[in-house]
Amino acid sequence: MIFYKLSDDLREEIKHLRASGKRIGFVPTMGALHQGHISLIQASALACDVTVCSIFVNPSQFNNAEDLKHYPRTLANDLELLAGFKNILVYAPDEVNDVYKTDENFAVELGNIGLVMEAAFRPGHFNGVMNVVKRLFDIVTPDMAFFGQKDFQQCLVIKKLINHYLLPVELKICPIAREEDGLAMSSRNVRLSPAERAIAPAIFKALMHAKEQVNLLTPDEVKNRILNELKSYRQLVPEYVEISETENLLPVESWNDARNIVACITVKLGAVRLIDNIILK
Ligand code: PAJ
Repeated sequence: MIFYKLSDDLREEIKHLRASGKRIGFVPTMGALHQGHISLIQASALACDVTVCSIFVNPSQFNNAEDLKHYPRTLANDLELLAGFKNILVYAPDEVNDVYKTDENFAVELGNIGLVMEAAFRPGHFNGVMNVVKRLFDIVTPDMAFFGQKDFQQCLVIKKLINHYLLPVELKICPIAREEDGLAMSSRNVRLSPAERAIAPAIFKALMHAKEQVNLLTPDEVKNRILNELKSYRQLVPEYVEISETENLLPVESWNDARNIVACITVKLGAVRLIDNIILK
């Protein structure tokens, strides 16, 4: 593992690697690494010669100052976790300006994807994500970039970004890593109290139950079932439950509306916002 604080140093190293024909995989993260992040790094290590992992809590994608303030920062632990990996370059800048060298805006038009779910509940969030990922792509110039299905809408946003700028990056979407009880791994899980942590698996249970009801109930009925199941826990407050086309996140009225359909959930559990999803068909 080699650790870089400065993007210029990383660029220099990548120039050498490219010159010797190495394939570069990229795993962008905001740190507080868990097995979900590690699974992306493992996927990259399998497919590429060298993996770059960035650790950068990107201020511009936080629409809530409290969330940014409380976002876990555990760089020493993260580096320890990555120390065992061969052929990995870690980029963890100290300064926001090391990533944001200019104030150019790289946010692209997202159509419906920019209007619903996370985009509706976190205004400006995806503009921040696009602005940081475009800059990181420009620094790393990866052949492949690995993102988690956990942030389903984010994957669609990155696809739009890559297509818009014609970036020569292959997007790889990796499965959701879960705790044994089904809770999707997340850097925010550490902020759950023991009582909240005990309730949290209800989110994935509701998604699993939804999958069992496909073709037996209408999408709207399934959505209401999920909502009722979640609301049976006083502490779980759903922000949204959507059953949508995987391509563009348009809501589906019938199971025949689209070839592939996803159910997406976001809930507040105490002060923590948790998101999860499942492919229904
Ligand atoms: P972060 O939340 O740290 O997530 C980094 C990557 O890990 C994302 O692609 C995310 O989908 C993936 N990931 C998170 N939890 C996962 C899980 N349980 N299983 C599989 N993959 C998981 O997403 C971001 O950071 C930022 O928005 C970023 C893309 C780095 C831009 O700042």
